[in-house]
Amino acid sequence: MAGVVSKKVIEDIRFRCDIVDVIGSYFHLQGAGSSLKALCPFHKEKTPSFHVNRQRQSFHCFGCGAGGDVFRFIMQHEGVDFPTAIRMLAQRAGVTIESEPGEGGSGGVDKALLYRLHSEVAALYHSALLDRKSAAHARAYLEKRALPPEIVEAFQIGYAPNRWDAVCEWARRNKYRAEDVELCGLILRKPDAQGPEAHYYDRFRNRLMFPIHDEQGRVIGFSGRALEEDAKTAKYVNSPETPLFKKSRVLYALDKARRQIAETREALVCEGQIDVIRCHQAGFTTAVAAQGTAFTEEHIRILRRYADGVCLMFDSDRAGQDAAVRAAALFMDAGLAVRAATLPPGDDPDSFIRKRGADAFRQILDGATSAVRFQIDVLAAREDLRSEVGVMRAARAVLATIAHSPNAVQRAKLVQQAAERLNLPPSALTDDLRHLLRQQQRPAADAESAAPAPPAPRPIEEVALCEHLAQVIDHPSVAALVRKYLPLDMISDPICRVVAEAALQCDATGRDLHNVLRDRDDPGGEAQRFAAALMAAPSRVKGTDVAPDDAVKDLVLGLWSRKLTKERSDIERQAMSTADEGALRRGKEITTLLRHLKRWDDGAAVIEMELLH
Ligand code: CTP
Ligand code: MN
Repeated sequence: MAGVVSKKVIEDIRFRCDIVDVIGSYFHLQGAGSSLKALCPFHKEKTPSFHVNRQRQSFHCFGCGAGGDVFRFIMQHEGVDFPTAIRMLAQRAGVTIESEPGEGGSGGVDKALLYRLHSEVAALYHSALLDRKSAAHARAYLEKRALPPEIVEAFQIGYAPNRWDAVCEWARRNKYRAEDVELCGLILRKPDAQGPEAHYYDRFRNRLMFPIHDEQGRVIGFSGRALEEDAKTAKYVNSPETPLFKKSRVLYALDKARRQIAETREALVCEGQIDVIRCHQAGFTTAVAAQGTAFTEEHIRILRRYADGVCLMFDSDRAGQDAAVRAAALFMDAGLAVRAATLPPGDDPDSFIRKRGADAFRQILDGATSAVRFQIDVLAAREDLRSEVGVMRAARAVLATIAHSPNAVQRAKLVQQAAERLNLPPSALTDDLRHLLRQQQRPAADAESAAPAPPAPRPIEEVALCEHLAQVIDHPSVAALVRKYLPLDMISDPICRVVAEAALQCDATGRDLHNVLRDRDDPGGEAQRFAAALMAAPSRVKGTDVAPDDAVKDLVLGLWSRKLTKERSDIERQAMSTADEGALRRGKEITTLLRHLKRWDDGAAVIEMELLH
């Protein structure tokens, strides 16, 4: 949480991160001395109007008006919030931030140490791959898989030596405690060996090692691939769940892809890490993959911060197709647009790009169809669509997918497509779909009418606040702000209030918003529905370059202004009849307070005072 990092530490980081060096590490700055310029990274231009001032440690674009300090630059350029920008710059500057932000509740674990162990072991594996005599066969494997040095470097690929004690030995030499390395999942305790005399052995042996990075590029785990096809050992061995590595939320290469995803608003989702690497190598830098598991809601929540849609590019085998259909439903549930691309049988992105090149792959991507059309194609290949039974089976499967779209307009469009492809009257599908939706107890929706249901007239600032709070798991600092500065009875709309309360509970417990709401008194499921809509269309949250914290501060200021303005007009109304000295003084005071509620720096102090009353 931003609040956890002290002002002093922030200033320390600022001091150590010269803005010219930081920006200069992203792109070339022309000129010399204190005024440097470049083509603005935040808008398209032909002549440079992006200026960096070393003395003032600030940047400003005369073209688009972007500007600010080094933190602002990172926030905008990396598309991250303020706490993340602090962390990224802290890492660069070598400043340690004591508390691990945003990941509370893992009591007592020294995460900083675990990060360090991972990063050092990644370096150990990497240098083993490059230098060791005994890694010659691993280097030959790289060659066979066409993974050139620059890719090995960029993805920090390594080699786990063919020994039981490479990491154990390294830990001993570097005076790391075996228990800590064990907590990272890198070594395992031999059974029947307990206590201080416990014996350990390496988890990863004789494998090509792919470090897995979190969004900020810190190594949090590994995936190790066998070098020979051998039925006796698993093709891939991955890190187990650790305090840092949560399979359900790891997206391979998101650290490298997220900027490009944020720009194009679409992620290319593959199945394997070599596929992802190959995509990046060929210039498809929005590629990510889940870590050998099915997609989870958490994956999707993370992706949704950057993307409005995904293009699924799964293996063309039956398992891959089924996985794509399942993933498509999940993404659609979250309100993301889903396209799916089909590779020729037997290919995955890696093999296809190697054989046919980037241009052919681009064509496949361009030809990606809606998830429903993809599903129909898949089913058409499996079912006999000339038979009535086959059509019925296909229709049922497709409708089940369509029912996952929370958006009536999208559903109507998909029904249209499905009807065309299955050669059925749309009305037949619409009837069945309506039936299905009722069964699932979703809000009754008319798939044929293109008009979305009219939104309930909730105060817009309260809805906006809820949109931010719905993302609270990703932005815990927002919860901290609301807790400190906004008593929830200031939220007038009862449904907004319920959702806000629930979001704070999510923040405290790490539970999912729907999950928390399910336990609440929610007649007619209105709060659930509202929350779903918020999560499906966080329009005011995404796509702006305002950090969530700043946006929420503005909203808090707005709600306080609203409250005080109302109090003042109540006083004025009363004053017509009864002239109460105290009330009149309060009225005047409010006028002053309202002036201070325009900016957060003053406003926060005013709110704190008001809360004392
Ligand atoms: N995977 C895994 N455990 C396995 C097999 C696969 O964790 N036993 C994960 C890996 O992350 C892998 C992904 O699932 O990248 C996809 O598996 P697969 O398609 O079998 O492998 P490829 O990525 O094609 O790897 P390769 O090309 O090296 O065979
Ligand atoms: Mn492959």
